[in-house]
Amino acid sequence: MTAKIISGTEVAAQIREELKGRVVKLKEKGVTPALAVVLVGEDPASVSYVTAKAKGAEEIGMHEETIRLPADAAEEKVLQTVDKLNKDPKFHGILVQLPLPKHISTDKVISFISPEKDVDGFHPVNVGRALRGEPCPLPCTPHGVQQMLVRSGYDPDGKHVVICGRSNIVGKPLTAILMQKKKGANATITICHTGTKDIGYYARQADILVAAMGVPKAITADMVRDGAVVIDVGVNRVEDKTKEKGFRLVGDVDFDAIKEKAAAITPVPGGVGPMTVTMLLMNTVEAAERKAGLAK
Ligand SMILES: NC(=O)c1ccc[n+]([C@@H]2O[C@H](COP(=O)([O-])OP(=O)(O)OC[C@H]3O[C@@H](n4cnc5c(N)ncnc54)[C@H](OP(=O)(O)O)[C@@H]3O)[C@@H](O)[C@H]2O)c1
Repeated sequence: MTAKIISGTEVAAQIREELKGRVVKLKEKGVTPALAVVLVGEDPASVSYVTAKAKGAEEIGMHEETIRLPADAAEEKVLQTVDKLNKDPKFHGILVQLPLPKHISTDKVISFISPEKDVDGFHPVNVGRALRGEPCPLPCTPHGVQQMLVRSGYDPDGKHVVICGRSNIVGKPLTAILMQKKKGANATITICHTGTKDIGYYARQADILVAAMGVPKAITADMVRDGAVVIDVGVNRVEDKTKEKGFRLVGDVDFDAIKEKAAAITPVPGGVGPMTVTMLLMNTVEAAERKAGLAK
């Protein structure tokens, strides 16, 4: 069997088209969805993520502003910036680009964002709401994984989903999303981590296998059962002298071997990656819709 390739680029483009229509409807009501991005310092990866977010927002007709602070900005200055944005009715979403410089408490800054404007879905109130299955902004990467599955015809309902990785930004919120008694969820979940004795034992039982470990080729073909759906969240740099930059990006799964066994698989790049920014845009549009009384 050669797996179907689930293209995050294609699913993301489809969602962005839908979002354009929702933005038009909001604008007809006099509301322009607006996202504020706070960038502290000039870490090249963070700068490129922020640029992608600004470009994506512009493409769907949203307003976006990036507030740039120097790398040595005091924690108090970052909190004041968030406070100002919390109070500014123009903005429906606030995102503080992570990682923050070491002298700033990420937890403190995240908890300072108004839960209603927390479009990353990382505020403890939203983490609780997500676990309870209440309406709230869902963390973008796991929400993107759910959308990719559903929109590609691999509804997790009734399936055994094995998630490798239990981080607060991927593994745990994906568990919270897919375990709900809801459409596009309702799955049975197993979550693996470094304390798991034999990951292969669990992975081989997966109808849907999600790898979010940050380890290149951690999932090998013998860990995947024939006909499984494999979602690779991992983004790892491996040395490649044939590339201009001296590296290339690979996921957490042995793509070439597993694509001969799986029913479907996501590539890296072009898989989960493009979904993450798109779900951020969706969360911002949804926050604006909630404020305008168009959504729960
Ligand atoms: N495409 C995107 O938009 C996107 C977004 C976010 C992250 N990512 C990528 O996804 C990957 C994971 O990111 P993250 O932030 O979730 O990473 P993280 O915070 O480092 O968490 C990694 C998780 O994987 C587990 N793990 C690591 N090595 C393992 C091993 N050998 N066996 C079993 N479990 C193992 C860890 O277990 P313990 O808890 O026991 O330590 C931890 O729970 C990274 O490659 C990251 O770049 C991509």
